[in-house]
Amino acid sequence: TDEPLVLGIETSCDETGVGIVRGGTLLVDAIASSVDEHARFGGVVPEVASRAHLEAMVPTIERACREAGVRLEDLDAIAVTSGPGLAGALLVGVAAAKSLAVALGTPLYGVNHLASHVAVDTLQHGPLPEPTLALLVSGGHSNLLLVPDITDDVRHLGQTIDDAAGEAFDKVARVLGLGFPGGPHIDRAAREGQVVIDFPRGLTAAKDLERHRFDYSFSGLKTAVSRWVRAKQEAGEHVPVADVAASFQEAVVDVLTRKALLACREHGVADLVVGGGVAANSRLRALAQERCDAAGVTLRVPRPGLCTDNGAMVAALGAQMVMRGREPSDLGLPADSSMPV
Ligand code: KG4
Ligand code: ZN
Repeated sequence: TDEPLVLGIETSCDETGVGIVRGGTLLVDAIASSVDEHARFGGVVPEVASRAHLEAMVPTIERACREAGVRLEDLDAIAVTSGPGLAGALLVGVAAAKSLAVALGTPLYGVNHLASHVAVDTLQHGPLPEPTLALLVSGGHSNLLLVPDITDDVRHLGQTIDDAAGEAFDKVARVLGLGFPGGPHIDRAAREGQVVIDFPRGLTAAKDLERHRFDYSFSGLKTAVSRWVRAKQEAGEHVPVADVAASFQEAVVDVLTRKALLACREHGVADLVVGGGVAANSRLRALAQERCDAAGVTLRVPRPGLCTDNGAMVAALGAQMVMRGREPSDLGLPADSSMPV
């Protein structure tokens, strides 16, 4: 099919996402989130997420079809996140997608969550140049990927060896007494502050660059921030929240962009896609643009609503697979919580 009509289902974490695309065009992106139910625990609770997906799945599919003016019978393919993610959460989406595929006699495409964070950019900026380099930063992952072909050749260059970038934002926000999820709160607070504290840049020393050239580490940074704040509190001094937020954020986005551009240079890639929830960060977007301009690299960052988990990204990758003539999955498609790219 030239412009396949594809429905995508995403349930890897706390968002129940159902998106519908026609070829490279987004028709609808319906989302039900259980984020408020997790907020009081300060993190996503897997059991709570699974139950919320079960409750939201059918209504969200119905809403997506209604808003797109699409009948299930008209779909050319059903795509679903098969991993990585929370096992119980993934199962809900995979089971729903299989049921639809069987009932409708429609081909089923299992997709990788990390690849779909990259593929979503096709909905905003058109086909991906081949190869593309991708920096994927979210609450669950921080990866550098070399992408010769998003539908079947995604290569792993590096990843975090401890906390994900978004996780570091969430933990530091908690130390500073800001809300969950912490990223948007830190982003906002940092705008009122100055980068005055020199927090550590993980895995950037010469010896670390040898072994962990494209890997990240944020747990040392998180510890450094906690220690700095505790020392102020114990001394009975005022904690300059905005300055700490700005300085922490700068340390994260400095390392993220530095290594992404190093990868572009060393792999001879002229296009960088930044995706995942942390790609919504205003300072990351600005510094990535600045450094890409200086390096002659074209930067592509989807709008914030497409960066966080959603169903459109799954539909987008599914549509690319159909258009490339990739084989559909069979009904044995697993929910694979630790699926590699
Ligand atoms: O991609 P996503 O919605 O879910 C996962 O797959 O994890 O990413 C969520 C993460 C959270 O850690 C959140 O704090 C972070 O993205 N985030 C941000 C911003 N908006 C969301 N981090 C920094 N700055 C932001 N503006
Ligand atoms: Zn994600």
